[in-house]
Amino acid sequence: MSEGLLFPFTEEHEMIRQTARDFAQNEIAPIAAQFDESGEFPSETIRKMGELGFMGIEVPEEYGGAGMDTLAYVLALEEICKADAAHGTIMSVNNSLFCYGILRFGTEEQKQRFVKPVASGKAIGAYALTEPMSGSDAGNMRTRATREGDKYILNGRKSWVTSGPVADYVVVFALTDPEKKHRGITAFLVDAKTPGFVRGKKEPKLGIRASATSELSFENCEVPIENRLGDEGEGFKIAMAVLDAGRIGIAAQALGIAEAAYEASLQYATEREAFGQKIGAFQGVSFKLADMKTRIEASRLLTYQAALAKERSKTTGERFTLQASMAKLFSSETAMFVTHAAVQIHGGMGYSRELPIERYFRDAKITEIYEGTSEIQRLVIARLESGLH
Ligand code: CAA
Repeated sequence: MSEGLLFPFTEEHEMIRQTARDFAQNEIAPIAAQFDESGEFPSETIRKMGELGFMGIEVPEEYGGAGMDTLAYVLALEEICKADAAHGTIMSVNNSLFCYGILRFGTEEQKQRFVKPVASGKAIGAYALTEPMSGSDAGNMRTRATREGDKYILNGRKSWVTSGPVADYVVVFALTDPEKKHRGITAFLVDAKTPGFVRGKKEPKLGIRASATSELSFENCEVPIENRLGDEGEGFKIAMAVLDAGRIGIAAQALGIAEAAYEASLQYATEREAFGQKIGAFQGVSFKLADMKTRIEASRLLTYQAALAKERSKTTGERFTLQASMAKLFSSETAMFVTHAAVQIHGGMGYSRELPIERYFRDAKITEIYEGTSEIQRLVIARLESGLH
């Protein structure tokens, strides 16, 4: 557990962690398996999370949020993901990929109009960057936005949009000047009620199944100029800066999944007997547990440090890309390592749908893929360290 850490936790941090823990264990954990099975969007619990301030933790109260810091966000997200990573995905996208970008790059009117409803959980936000032909190579998009008078006309297709099937507002990245490649990308805030905003089919997924994912198409979708986020050509940098924040959320999510799998494994190893003793007394199991615990604590340190770096950036303007990528890389690979070991320790019961262990294993995998694969995180870290491109 994190209680012994020398991090500057305040009473507020302890309070939000406890509130998130109580809510997650009492209201989310009991329904997680059912929503995983059905793939239904958990509207009711998400609404309650909005009431508790979890959908906009770092958003100032004047824009409908809880007005807390990045460490508070990470602590709360970790607790939610310990109960169910799918709820965590929805929370993370609302907080980091939607609200953060508008708070940082948006106008006062955009904050009032788009952040307020999303931060208070009354509306759902999404982020549409990836396309069928551009995932890791995000700068290579094809979606076009053509200026016509005081509006832009959007045409194109986005894929793998978290909350795509239910989102009320989406940050969409599109080319305004294809000649300039990534420097010709611009960001837009699109209301899902706009004619020409078309939701594609929901993706059937291995894990985080209660978080809805889909394609979105734009068919002559008219977006007023006041919905442009930042200037023309600034979109790629906005996308990257927002992903820096998002990656800290995914690191916290991976940490939560890993903790849940570890705690269940530790308990099982001290109860289950084989060959006349508790299985945790066998080196084959105890060394696994030692490695799981150590990697989790290392993930925690990287994740909390990244949260502090992001918090500091609010005053210094310094980038926190390196800390975010290292935290996401290590935490997501730890979640995979830990959940894999957890299934093995539980044996047949780890493979059974009667326990949540197999769900943790399925949910962990996405953390190595979305918001930048592990390979992209390594590329980002290596480039920043060496200066070579
Ligand atoms: N902050 C600010 N600016 C940044 C930046 C950052 N973190 N990273 C890069 N930039 C700037 C660079 O300084 C550069 O600026 P100039 O044009 O002035 O030179 C510009 O952006 C281009 O940078 P690169 O040359 O590094 O671009 P690249 O094309 O070589 O590679 C990449 C960039 C790191 C590979 C990037 O494309 C990337 O992160 N790819 C992964 C995309 C990703 O994470 N997708 C997930 C989408 S969200 C999702 O998963 C679904 C969901 O709903 C949750």
